[in-house]
Amino acid sequence: MSRFAYVNSGFLPHRDACVHIEDRGFQFGDAVYEVWGVRDGHLLDEQGHFDRLYRSLDQLDILFERSQYSLLVTIHELLRRNRIRNGLVYLQISRGVAPRDHAFPQANIAPTVVLTAKRFNFDAAAQRAEHGIRVITQDDERWGRCDIKSVNLLPNVLAKQAAREEGAYEAWLVDGSGLVTEGSSTTAWIVSRDGELITRPLDNHILPGITRKTVIAIAKSMSIPLVERAFSPEEAHSSREAFITSASSFVMPVVQIDDKIIANGTPGSLSLSLRNEYLRAQ
Ligand code: PDD
Repeated sequence: MSRFAYVNSGFLPHRDACVHIEDRGFQFGDAVYEVWGVRDGHLLDEQGHFDRLYRSLDQLDILFERSQYSLLVTIHELLRRNRIRNGLVYLQISRGVAPRDHAFPQANIAPTVVLTAKRFNFDAAAQRAEHGIRVITQDDERWGRCDIKSVNLLPNVLAKQAAREEGAYEAWLVDGSGLVTEGSSTTAWIVSRDGELITRPLDNHILPGITRKTVIAIAKSMSIPLVERAFSPEEAHSSREAFITSASSFVMPVVQIDDKIIANGTPGSLSLSLRNEYLRAQ
């Protein structure tokens, strides 16, 4: 079956879909993006991702006039054309096409909109969660506005590649003070020896994860004590449990950080129950 993508105002066969060479997303990384998980045809955390999308656009002064409703209709049409009921949807919006100049173009240009969708194997993810994943730590070499979901992902790409080369699933990024910020494409969490759920507070150093927000709400509803503070890799090494969250991994237990096995090397019970609750709540 041929796959379809959406560019600007129309659907195209995936292999023919492209953007202009002078697109500012390509030339400067002057673009934002969002990712939704799709389950049984529904977008997971639909509103949270839209809210963050419009905030990212606003923070970069990208004038985007299309409504959430109009985007949502297009997303569902894309899923329908690709016959996807379980998968991932990616949306990139760049400032648009203009002759190369670092400063914003003088003339009002139309933002470029790209939507793609792919199938996601929920069973494989569930199996991964049963065993847990391994993460490595890497220096956080990103810019100072990681709260904006921009497509400038080179440090994230390099960190993920380092993880892959070591046979790990994710890289946790460590700031200049020796504290974990987040994963290269996920939020980082630990459970302390006292059973407290710990994740870094929101500021410019991390992306405000939408899955993070939902998991916090779930933890509160389960009366699990939650502390929003930074933690070091050393504290994580001796934690009771660790896990990551994101639109594509939901809640994924971590069983090894660098060469340190977490607890007994199997997924923690709190991580697994948060995963089940997250999937049940959607
Ligand atoms: N990544 N931190 C970073 C740096 C991320 O890129 C992501 C998401 C997250 C988790 O955010 P959320 O829970 O809203 O997905 C945290 C997506 C999935 C990606 O780039 O593919």
